[in-house]
Amino acid sequence: MCGIVAYIGQREAYPIVLKGLKRLEYRGYDSAGVALINNGLQVYKKKGKVAELENHVSGKDMRSHIAIGHTRWATHGEPSDRNSHPHVSGNGKLAMIHNGIIENYAQLKQELLNQGHIFKSDTDTEVLTHFIEEIQKSNHCTLEEALRIALKRVVGAYVIVIVDEDNPDTLIAARKGSPLVIGVGKGEHFLASDASPIVEYTKEVVYVNDYEIAIIKADELILKNISNERQTPYIQKLDIELAAIEKGGYDHFMLKEIFEQPQTIFDSLRGRLDAKNGTLTIGGIREHAEMLSKAKRIIIVACGTSWHAGLVAEYMIEELCRIPVEVEYASEFRYRNPVVGPGDVIIAVSQSGETADTLVAIESAKEKGAIILGVCNVVGSSIARLSDAGAYTHAGPEIGVASTKAFTAQLAVLCLIGLKVAIVKGSITQQRFQHLLDELDHIPEKVAAVLKLNDRIKEIAAKYKDARDFLYLGRGYNFPVALEGALKLKEISYIHAEGYPAAEMKHGPIALVDENLPVVFVATRDSYYEKVVSNIQEIKARKGKVIAVVTEGDQVIPGMADDIIMVPEADELVAPILSVIPLQLLAYHIGVLKGFDVDKPRNLAKSVTVE
Ligand code: M6R
Repeated sequence: MCGIVAYIGQREAYPIVLKGLKRLEYRGYDSAGVALINNGLQVYKKKGKVAELENHVSGKDMRSHIAIGHTRWATHGEPSDRNSHPHVSGNGKLAMIHNGIIENYAQLKQELLNQGHIFKSDTDTEVLTHFIEEIQKSNHCTLEEALRIALKRVVGAYVIVIVDEDNPDTLIAARKGSPLVIGVGKGEHFLASDASPIVEYTKEVVYVNDYEIAIIKADELILKNISNERQTPYIQKLDIELAAIEKGGYDHFMLKEIFEQPQTIFDSLRGRLDAKNGTLTIGGIREHAEMLSKAKRIIIVACGTSWHAGLVAEYMIEELCRIPVEVEYASEFRYRNPVVGPGDVIIAVSQSGETADTLVAIESAKEKGAIILGVCNVVGSSIARLSDAGAYTHAGPEIGVASTKAFTAQLAVLCLIGLKVAIVKGSITQQRFQHLLDELDHIPEKVAAVLKLNDRIKEIAAKYKDARDFLYLGRGYNFPVALEGALKLKEISYIHAEGYPAAEMKHGPIALVDENLPVVFVATRDSYYEKVVSNIQEIKARKGKVIAVVTEGDQVIPGMADDIIMVPEADELVAPILSVIPLQLLAYHIGVLKGFDVDKPRNLAKSVTVE
């Protein structure tokens, strides 16, 4: 989704902002723009990639010590030069970049049209820029004051950053519902939607809170709330390294992130799991473990891949803790007026911690009295901060739009939470607890073994890359894995793929099966194994092509399937962490073989910050 970068300080601002925009490309966007002050306000914007903007400004005098930059993911108005940000006020003095949606923009626009304003774009952002200018004019007030008044009328979510031709030594920013990080340097400040454009300059950052306005000069950062009261900026240390946001020799971030999984899963367990001594410590939920063990039900809310992790967790938690679990699409949960209140525990699962659907779902559940646990990857993200407790997944920055390492880290952490609650509740035996600790302890090395199958999976990808549709099937713990495999393939190869519970296939999708349909079975040895074997036979009887992910040593399925991928044996509760990896690689190779940009698939955004 939209990306924001800005700089103020002694250095040349444009190269810093341009590099920052490139760092934010992974978020997904369709146009880019910059504004700076050099003999007045200069604004350049272009539909397409950041590189096209770079060409567009080539040869122009871009010298300035203040600049703002934006990558836009279209919401109001098609992707075009004129709808790109920054947007400029009617008097040509203010330029604004914006991430989020101004929900009441139509009403504000009508008022401004009645006052004679003329708009050049279809965007809500331009409306807000004119609205602030109008308030400044009619109240004879400062930009800061006008912004404060404007934001009291604005409905929606936003991060905005403004440059003002009349105040070339100040940036003004505000936030509600969308993230804004300010990097604090020596005599300089860096602003961005996330830490990736900042990390190479400074590790000291301030996360702006909702309803705060930041007034930023090269050597001063003032934070105020919407009532004009000064707030103390809380400076935090970034715990990411530059290497984590670079490709490190891999062709794509997605491949790098798939191959990082032995380490990222280890990191998600580190300091928590001590299999040798049979202990499990999750600092973030320590105080809530007792309460969780007494919960009447747990509701997991999430979107996309994180929702699939939630589905696996439903199987895990119900089995381990004997507590009913519901898994909800965050967007549906929020708007159907769910029965939720005191005594309910909500687990919000999110890589970015900024997904708007998940954020508003937990906001409303929290207002109704539910306890919120966050399982997020991005430290300091909005969902993590809104949660009452939780555990970070510690997978490191995930840049590829298709989520991979975040998913397996979510599974590991959700499994730890299930185990912790189960042992507090006494719903599993000490022996099973110890067995699962041991299983988790060995998962990183087993993941490394699965990654050795990369070349074989690439061959399978080449064989099936031209298929029009794919079906992914699994049962039990492997059903959500099938859903995740289908989502990965759709996202980066644009092949239509459906995930189904393997048994449900005969109630409809079997009509699709013929000799042209590849059917991917996630068929590791578990309590559903015999049933899945029957389902494979049903597909083969109709001449479908079967690609099966099975457990090493399987003697049965290799005799039936067209292609086999063998993963190490694991307890069924943790097996999804292994069985999903071949599906990530299969999707990756098919996407690459088809010539697509797998790190930035069309239409998708990394962090979906609009509802
Ligand atoms: O950041 P989140 O985990 O909340 O994101 C949720 C989904 O938007 C995300 O998983 C999406 O489905 C990915 N593109 C999956 O690869």
